[in-house]
Amino acid sequence: MAHLTIDGRAYHYREVGEGQPLLLLHGFPLTGASFWPQLDAPPNGVRLIVPDHRGFGQSARGDDALSMDAFASDALVLLDALQITRAAVGGVSMGGYAAMALLRLDPARVSKLVLIDTQAGADDAAGKARREAVAVELEAKGISPLVEAMMPKLLSKNAPEALRGRVEAMLRSADPTSAAAASRAMATREDSKEILSRFAGAALVVVGADDVITPRAKAKEMAELLEGSCPLLEIDGAGHLSNLEKPEAFNHALSEFLAI
Ligand code: MLT
Repeated sequence: MAHLTIDGRAYHYREVGEGQPLLLLHGFPLTGASFWPQLDAPPNGVRLIVPDHRGFGQSARGDDALSMDAFASDALVLLDALQITRAAVGGVSMGGYAAMALLRLDPARVSKLVLIDTQAGADDAAGKARREAVAVELEAKGISPLVEAMMPKLLSKNAPEALRGRVEAMLRSADPTSAAAASRAMATREDSKEILSRFAGAALVVVGADDVITPRAKAKEMAELLEGSCPLLEIDGAGHLSNLEKPEAFNHALSEFLAI
């Protein structure tokens, strides 16, 4: 792991491979290590860069409120530090929200887009209220209730026990205060439909066929906003973390997409 200091905060990232830059942003309440099958076998000719969002993994939270724009701004500072003008940018779920925020903040930096088990829309009032309830519970009771609520939804029912255990351990290691702040940050994220409809680069949308958090209809909506030029890959036997649950299918699709 390498790190930068941004506004006095440590911001950690992993970097493997050489060639076309690909920035991948992780979901909630995970860390960049949730891309382990991609970090272990990055696509040929790809320089894969995977940070921990502020407040997660080894990256310090700092004093400011979390937001998708804050995650995206940190990632832009990282691209600057690595002297990368344009990168393929992608993310899983909350990481997808942050990738779309980055596209909104600085579209010139995004050469290609990879949206994995995520959605373009903002939360409705009921969704915002649920996020606030999650945040309040995290602050009152710590991480366990969130882990117990999320684990049944993250992976398909046939996921191997070893994978389940590894994902659960990652969730349990999340800092409850940061997770509460990220829950509130997701509640206030902007709608990204327009920014997707304006994106002219190549895009890939991926969804696990058994994703119950951001199901296929959300993926189809994003693919349609991306002007029909965008392939929609549905991965059988995968839930919400399709890059982890079916890494061969995922890595193959990513390699093919980045080779175009
Ligand atoms: C995630 O996996 O990042 C979150 O479940 C996304 C969300 O709750 O919207």
